[in-house]
Amino acid sequence: MGRLTGRTCIITGGAGGIGAATARRLCREGGQVVIADILLEPAEALAAEICSQGGDAIALHLDLGDPASIAALIGDTLAHYGKLEVVFNNGAATQPELLNRDGAAGEMDIDVWDTTFAVNARGTMLMIRHALPALIASGNGAIINTSSGAALLGDLARTAYAASKAAINTLTLYVAAQYGKQGVTCNVISPGMVPTANSRANQPEMIRMVERHHLTPELGYPEDIAAMVALLASGDGRFVTGQILRVDGGVSKAFAHVADNRAQFAAHVASTWGTGAP
Ligand SMILES: NC(=O)c1ccc[n+]([C@@H]2O[C@H](COP(=O)([O-])OP(=O)(O)OC[C@H]3O[C@@H](n4cnc5c(N)ncnc54)[C@H](O)[C@@H]3O)[C@@H](O)[C@H]2O)c1
Repeated sequence: MGRLTGRTCIITGGAGGIGAATARRLCREGGQVVIADILLEPAEALAAEICSQGGDAIALHLDLGDPASIAALIGDTLAHYGKLEVVFNNGAATQPELLNRDGAAGEMDIDVWDTTFAVNARGTMLMIRHALPALIASGNGAIINTSSGAALLGDLARTAYAASKAAINTLTLYVAAQYGKQGVTCNVISPGMVPTANSRANQPEMIRMVERHHLTPELGYPEDIAAMVALLASGDGRFVTGQILRVDGGVSKAFAHVADNRAQFAAHVASTWGTGAP
């Protein structure tokens, strides 16, 4: 028996990156997993891989920007598994052709703003809205949303992406307050830099730049986010709700000068005390 045995879980954006790592993890812990993605082929390949290893997963098409597609996903999940306990809202409009046009507010293209919000913010809200009746009926439902450190600090670009993630943070607090008494937890994970096939291809310089600001020896792996999702999705997370959980290698918890001054500080410690610096 795994921690997720008997729990049916939907993962949006489950075909790649963090979503795929989470699908493997939740299935290893005994969950029945619906891998929902706008890219059906890789979602089906992942479901086949999981099933070939004894897991229980199916792939379903989902376009988070299309309200009818979201309603159909919940309906098809209930038709297949008959119940729903966990929703991991992980999918986001991360396509490079969109992100590369998401710049400063002064040049914001209305289409970039609206598409980003339709997929990320409205998509997350509609997933919750359609899933809630089944989650409440389960008696112990869990909603895990996905934000970004970008939602909590200012930056030079990706304005629409960051603002849409801030909307997800606030949505999380409201859903936690509104449905906690009906047995549904709602939390949001704010990942640090977690290189995936997608982000390695799209933002190699960004990855190099931010790596030294993380307090951990290396950047996160999709499996590090999957581990937190598994906890929140299971009974182990039953007393955790309304939280913005920063699974980010501490990047948000130290001044920027820590990364810049490490070498200088090490030299000072060595010359003063003859010991190694932290
Ligand atoms: N990887 C990181 O460093 C990082 C950091 C902070 C936050 N995040 C967040 O984590 C989540 C996963 O990120 P990732 O790096 O694994 O991204 P990814 O680009 O590898 O995966 C996103 C998935 O969402 C799917 N998707 C895109 N548009 C969709 C739509 N309209 N409907 C349904 N599915 C759609 C994609 O096909 C893809 O499988 C995202 O919400 C992202 O914003 C990631």
